[in-house]
Amino acid sequence: MGTVGTGVAKILLQTEGRHPLLNTLEIMKVGVRQIKPRSVSLPDDLYTTDLDSIIADPNIDIIIEVIGGLEPARTLILQAIENGKHIVTANKAVISRYGEEIYEAATTAGVYVMIEAAVGGGIPIIAPLKQALSVNRIQAVMGIINGTTNYILTRMQNEGGDFEEILTDAQALGYAEADPTADVDGLDAADKIAILAALAFGGRVNREDIYCEGIRKISAADISYAEKLGFVIKLLAIAKVPSQPTDTISIQARVHPTLVPTDHPLASVNDVNNAVLIEGDPIGQVMLYGPGAGEGPTASAIVSDLMAIAASPTGNRKINPLLGCTHTHTLSIVPNTEVVTRLYVRLLVKDTSGVIGKLGTCFGKHDVSLESIVQIGIQDGIVELVVVTHEVPESAFQAALTEIRQFPEVNEIPSLLHVL
Ligand code: HSE
Repeated sequence: MGTVGTGVAKILLQTEGRHPLLNTLEIMKVGVRQIKPRSVSLPDDLYTTDLDSIIADPNIDIIIEVIGGLEPARTLILQAIENGKHIVTANKAVISRYGEEIYEAATTAGVYVMIEAAVGGGIPIIAPLKQALSVNRIQAVMGIINGTTNYILTRMQNEGGDFEEILTDAQALGYAEADPTADVDGLDAADKIAILAALAFGGRVNREDIYCEGIRKISAADISYAEKLGFVIKLLAIAKVPSQPTDTISIQARVHPTLVPTDHPLASVNDVNNAVLIEGDPIGQVMLYGPGAGEGPTASAIVSDLMAIAASPTGNRKINPLLGCTHTHTLSIVPNTEVVTRLYVRLLVKDTSGVIGKLGTCFGKHDVSLESIVQIGIQDGIVELVVVTHEVPESAFQAALTEIRQFPEVNEIPSLLHVL
């Protein structure tokens, strides 16, 4: 009965104007850390601090897990499945790390594990990927799937402030957690893209294989230079199949700050909003946009899962294949160094003749084709240069950069970012 649980209770206690199937659902027990007055009116005897008594109760069919964190959530989910209960969870961390174990147990027990609330808050993204969009061959699923970082980056963009200062303010206003690590270091987005990639590409994904870089290093200067070049900086989570066919079926799955062209649909997703862009054959591009967190939106996703279970065959291990897990193998993920991508690098170099030529020659030697080199400013004989590449293998770019770092003219390379 935290934020999300309260939202779920509010929907279930007031079903008027909502789908009539909600009337078939009854709140049997509510697990809490502490018995205390709550903002929703439920009979006092529904509350218990004994979570084991909930998962052991033979009258309970569905368990909603909104505890968060890895333990005891994982153990409780597994025990509940063993007891024949369906699970509805918002726990991206548990599903992205222990999905294989949990779904295998669920398949054996003939129960559903539903995760609409784990990604994108109120945005329906899991059901579309499992159902309507799954008739397509998916080429890419990418998006802004962390509201905290999108809020911080939007404010940095609008106000010209630096990361630390806006983070502190966001914490004071309740938009960022006291411990912001999972959000600002990209871990939450990586959990979510692991889940989306598994659904989009029909295989299990090892969470550890996902390259993950957060937004701590993004400076006001980069945001301003990106703007001058026609980009906004967003924390993107990207999963896609390589555009060039390869011998083995490998996907890219990564989270990093990215320069997004201002005319791209994801560029205008601001504040705490989330959006997921899916590219498939033959559908083309579909973008789902909306509130990525919060009591009402996340509760909406949870209750939609409850309703899907209520509408599906249960018992005798009968499972609706559109709701169950169909993955049988693990997808291979392309190492980040082998990813072919556009890159942005900012360099501080001495203002000597021939320095731009020297940089261009070095990139050329490593087959790194450049889209632009822009001289942004000059101060005390030091020139600030921004280089944007065409699509290049990241390894070739890094090899060029290793050489460039040794140039006596190069003072500093303050930032290196991906470009969409
Ligand atoms: N912490 C997440 C975010 C919300 O900032 O988007 C829950 O997934």
